[in-house]
Amino acid sequence: MSESGANTMWGGRFAGGVDAIMEAINASIGFDKRLAAQDIAGSRAHAAMLAAQGIISAQDAAAIDAGLEQVADEIASGAFPFRTELEDIHMNVEARLRELIGAPAGRLHTARSRNDQVGVDFRLFVREQCDAAIAGIDALMRAFLAQAEAGADWVMPGFTHLQTAQPVTWGHHMLAYVEMLARDRSRFADARARMNECPLGAAALAGTSFPIDRDATARALGFDRPTANSLDSVSDRDFAIEFLSAASICAMHLSRFAEELVIWSSAQFRFVTLSDAFSTGSSIMPQKKNPDAAELLRAKLGRVMGAQVALLVVMKGLPLTYSKDMQEDKEQLFDAADTLMLGLAAMAGMVRDMAANRDALAAAAASGFSTATDLADWLVRALNLPFRDAHHVTGTLVRMAEEAGCDLPDLSLAQMQSVHPGITAEVFEVLGVENSVRSRISYGGTAPDRVREQVARWKDALG
Ligand code: ARG
Repeated sequence: MSESGANTMWGGRFAGGVDAIMEAINASIGFDKRLAAQDIAGSRAHAAMLAAQGIISAQDAAAIDAGLEQVADEIASGAFPFRTELEDIHMNVEARLRELIGAPAGRLHTARSRNDQVGVDFRLFVREQCDAAIAGIDALMRAFLAQAEAGADWVMPGFTHLQTAQPVTWGHHMLAYVEMLARDRSRFADARARMNECPLGAAALAGTSFPIDRDATARALGFDRPTANSLDSVSDRDFAIEFLSAASICAMHLSRFAEELVIWSSAQFRFVTLSDAFSTGSSIMPQKKNPDAAELLRAKLGRVMGAQVALLVVMKGLPLTYSKDMQEDKEQLFDAADTLMLGLAAMAGMVRDMAANRDALAAAAASGFSTATDLADWLVRALNLPFRDAHHVTGTLVRMAEEAGCDLPDLSLAQMQSVHPGITAEVFEVLGVENSVRSRISYGGTAPDRVREQVARWKDALG
């Protein structure tokens, strides 16, 4: 604040200071200080371009650059004096620069506005988050792949409606998540490619009369090209929404596996044992080992989806171009990105550490009439029954077994023949779960050989 109480950045127009509550609602420095590195990188590229174009002197540009470097050091060391009355990161950095280097600092904002400045800062940040998400996904894919390789032929029940459906292999189930994560990865890569255009130079909204070189700043900041419409440049937050959209889908996948872990680690299932590193005990029940990390992930990941909706709601009513509403983009995205990265890391740890309980998996695979489809298929193949008739015969046999309190392979041949006289002893071969999974050799099927092929393909792809 100047002595009159007016803000030094636009004090010319204002006579008095702002209300304390106005300062509280207006200030973003509490959270956008997280964009400091991006803000300084953008400013250094801008100053260098201004000098190269003869818009400011080389001397001033050098002073600005050295000053910004010092500001960056102060921020990194924690010595930087952040001030709420300076509203946001852009003005905090510029005000400090003025304290450090004096008059030349006032030339930095030539041919620029906070509107294109925040646009470039935020894009740089979201671009980094895409890279971080991709790295996190890669690590998690590797963890699932290692599980798939170890258990390519371990049998377990496959479920629909959470009811036992058909036997599948552990490796196949693990690879299902590898497929999901690969799609997530490509969504982040796509979003990154689309957002990689530089809005710097759009200025407030209309462009600038100064002879700037937007290609140079775009290049210096690692963008593919400058954005082509200045109005769109300062009012676009698609890149953030797209990131949140990719993040939401990925979060949904992580949450589904978290849910499976909660179920699988229960005493009723005992499919997996989670490591102590990702579990907690109960303060009252000594026998308990709770899958807290999985539960927390399941709950926390909803925040990512909430952020996506929140930002869509912020943007949906805004006329072009910039409105201050858009300042509300950051907290949501920061929180969502942090939650996603934590989720990816925690899930990678859990997947790496978890131990499949092969005996429990195999026992569960063999129960619940899981090979009924194999029996029906055998009736079609061996006895040439139409599939609908085979389905009916099998249903009758399942009911018979259920009434006898046994499973399908426990029925005698005589009992089976009482339902269909053509059935021979060969039927028992298809009633075993090992044979069942081995027979599912169609492309994308659960047969161990097919799983091993997919494991090899993914090992190649992930390097
Ligand atoms: N702190 C602002 C934001 O995050 C920066 C842009 C402010 N622009 C303006 N015209 N008030 O959106």
